[in-house]
Amino acid sequence: MGASQRLTVTHRAATRAGGTMPDVAYALEPDLPPEEFVDVLRRSTLAERRPVDDADTIAAMLAHADVILTARAEGVLVGASRAITDFSYCTYLSDLAVDGAFQRRGIGRELIRRTHEAAGRQTTLILLSAPAAEAYYPHIGMEPHGSCWLIRGKRQS
Ligand SMILES: CC(C)(COP(=O)(O)OP(=O)(O)OC[C@H]1O[C@@H](n2cnc3c(N)ncnc32)[C@H](O)[C@@H]1OP(=O)(O)O)[C@@H](O)C(=O)NCCC(=O)NCCS
Repeated sequence: MGASQRLTVTHRAATRAGGTMPDVAYALEPDLPPEEFVDVLRRSTLAERRPVDDADTIAAMLAHADVILTARAEGVLVGASRAITDFSYCTYLSDLAVDGAFQRRGIGRELIRRTHEAAGRQTTLILLSAPAAEAYYPHIGMEPHGSCWLIRGKRQS
């Protein structure tokens, strides 16, 4: 998506804030273009915590993901989730992002629900919260786990 289209999206979202929102269409998009993914990460603020300036890593994150779900309003990407799963036992929801102008309208919750459905309801869905979303996950009924352990990669974001 070009810069001019991005501006159009921002304008539309701003003029609709507080008013009638367009319908949101959800889809599995295994071939989501990296530029669109990065763009929605930026519009959600999650870009601050993801390697959006490393094109090779972003391309690999998308190419090797198992479940990529999108939310589009009038064709424009307004939300996305990216998960790794074995479709049997566990599902790691790595990235969940909703355009700031479309937040608090149920899109995040629906992306999680559909991710879990696509990966298999029998799997345990696991995620690490960004600081800004720490109050979100308990609010939508997710269970905290006090024994989650990491070995950090060399990349910190
Ligand atoms: C966190 C995020 C994905 C939530 O998506 P969203 O579409 O705005 O959330 P929803 O509309 O599904 O919210 C569902 C409920 O949670 C509430 N909620 C939303 N964001 C919240 C937050 N940060 N803290 C507490 N509650 C929150 C909503 O008000 C709503 O409440 P209700 O059901 O009582 O009306 C989105 O705000 C976002 O992209 N944030 C920036 C990036 C980020 O932090 N991503 C998470 C990475 S782990």
